[in-house]
Amino acid sequence: MCGIVGYIGPREAYPIIITGLKRQEYRGYDSTGVALINHHLQVYKKKGKVAELEESLIGKAVSAHIGIGHTRWATHGEPSDRNAHPHTSASGKLAMIHNGIIENYGQLKQELLNKGYKFSSETDTEVLLNFIEEIKNNNKCSLEEAIRIALKRVAGAYVILLLDADNPDTIIAARKGSPLVIGIGKGEHFLGSDATPMLEYTKEVVYVNDYEVAIVKADELILKNLGNERQTPYITKLDMELAAIEKGGYEHFMLKEIFEQPHTIYDCLRGRLDAKEGTITMKGVQDNIEQLTNASRIIIVACGTSWHAGLIAEYVIEELCRIPVEVEYASEFRYRNPIVNKGDVIIAISQSGETADTLVAIEKAKENGAIIFGIVNVVGSSIARISHAGAYTHAGPEIGVASTKAFTAQLVVLIMMALKIAKEKDTISEEYYSKLLFELEDVPEKVASLLKNADELKIIAKKYKNSNDALFLGRGYNFPVALEGALKLKEISYIHAEGYPAAEMKHGPIALVDEKLPVVFVATKDAYHAKIISNIQEIKARKGKVIAIISEGDEIIPSMADDVFAVPLADEIIAPIISVIPLQLLSYYMGVAKGCDVDKPRNLAKSVTVE
Ligand code: G6P
Repeated sequence: MCGIVGYIGPREAYPIIITGLKRQEYRGYDSTGVALINHHLQVYKKKGKVAELEESLIGKAVSAHIGIGHTRWATHGEPSDRNAHPHTSASGKLAMIHNGIIENYGQLKQELLNKGYKFSSETDTEVLLNFIEEIKNNNKCSLEEAIRIALKRVAGAYVILLLDADNPDTIIAARKGSPLVIGIGKGEHFLGSDATPMLEYTKEVVYVNDYEVAIVKADELILKNLGNERQTPYITKLDMELAAIEKGGYEHFMLKEIFEQPHTIYDCLRGRLDAKEGTITMKGVQDNIEQLTNASRIIIVACGTSWHAGLIAEYVIEELCRIPVEVEYASEFRYRNPIVNKGDVIIAISQSGETADTLVAIEKAKENGAIIFGIVNVVGSSIARISHAGAYTHAGPEIGVASTKAFTAQLVVLIMMALKIAKEKDTISEEYYSKLLFELEDVPEKVASLLKNADELKIIAKKYKNSNDALFLGRGYNFPVALEGALKLKEISYIHAEGYPAAEMKHGPIALVDEKLPVVFVATKDAYHAKIISNIQEIKARKGKVIAIISEGDEIIPSMADDVFAVPLADEIIAPIISVIPLQLLSYYMGVAKGCDVDKPRNLAKSVTVE
């Protein structure tokens, strides 16, 4: 979490930094700050969002050609002006911003306190900065050398950017574990947690690797490892347009991203699926087809919404490929002593490709000899780079903090992958394989068709917006969809919501049911349809309010539910891609009706680069 931005070159740094920070607010928005050098070091910082800092600086002399900026998701110390980054060193000459956590900051702080240092914030960042300055003064070495020495003592994850008032032509940056992208312009450089701050200026970027220090001047970029050896910057071409990160007329990014799904799903299928030919082209899968088909077990690691995609994949892969699948929370997997054998395949699912827990889980499994297959949205992200093979979801930049289009693209990739393995293993009939390929091809159109009725969900949302709780129920492939629906509602509207397998509801949650409780059933037509109808009856018998997501043409459920939303009929394996969309819309409209900041829900961040 936390977004970092830097600029050095002939342009005005401040507007580039402010715009870059706004684009990175999905990474956190507890406080904002910038540091600029124009004759002397100037630091401006404030609790709250980027726009609030910008407002407070109207009329201030912020002209400079070098600067760094930060948008924070608080870890050490509450969101406040004094805990906001940049922090300045004891001498007042160095300014630093930081994304990540310095785990041994307590010990480093004690060493500095013993030497008489005083701290004005509760952050680990201020400790690291002063630790660096102490080394610089003590060893009488350059700042670059001091950073290298300091980082060898640091445990944790970080990206740091430093300005030195005595060296106004250089930004020094370093990374371990958190992302850092450097954009190469003509006589200028841009720095960011992702590539969005530099999109309109350059398409050439360098993804800095762990344990590298970047010495960035307007016309020169030097990369070194912690052993002071020069590293060759590997320049990548960005494949992203500015329009992709703008709202394009929608009120919120979340709504735009929900409505983009016919296109993003199509983009995910494009060039891969050919239903007429009966082929699925996925190079990462093809190159590793032997390991995948012979896998004794597949372990899926992920967090949040991506974990829900993993749960659906478990059902799909076990059904189609007959390979046992386990789905793990990355944060749990990394800290227990999981059994990972040679021959196991790990599938890591991550929108951002930067989630710290997922990254470490992969590293752990790699050490045990597993093959890692990454399913990632952000091209060039850390998970994409450390996986042995993988497939991008091609959903384009997702800015809304709650994941929507990335989730449906993950499902599409996972289903295609399962189909490809099943075909190779001969665990699927020709007929069913072909049917599913044609059905997948139809998904964008079906999604476009249900989106036309989005207003129906707006009305339902208004009706239930004052609820304190909600229950989401589903069976089979639609059970993880219910979990995802509950997560979305919690994230966006702060209504307490729980997802449950519909039948399991009898073992506890049914006690919550009264005439006020909305119970959302994901009840599209599948093998369990008759069963879920019984579950609906059980809720109605206790006067609960039933909102049902049903298949078009269902004549039974509308007669018993309080509210229904119909989606086009699809095979049960494909259905989750479609049935989740009304739940995304429901939580969006509930959030808007309650006046919540749906793109930046309180306390959340999109890219969780701390554990
Ligand atoms: C955060 C986001 C979620 C996301 C999760 C995992 O909690 O708010 O939307 O699902 O992280 O992120 P990843 O980028 O690994 O999919």
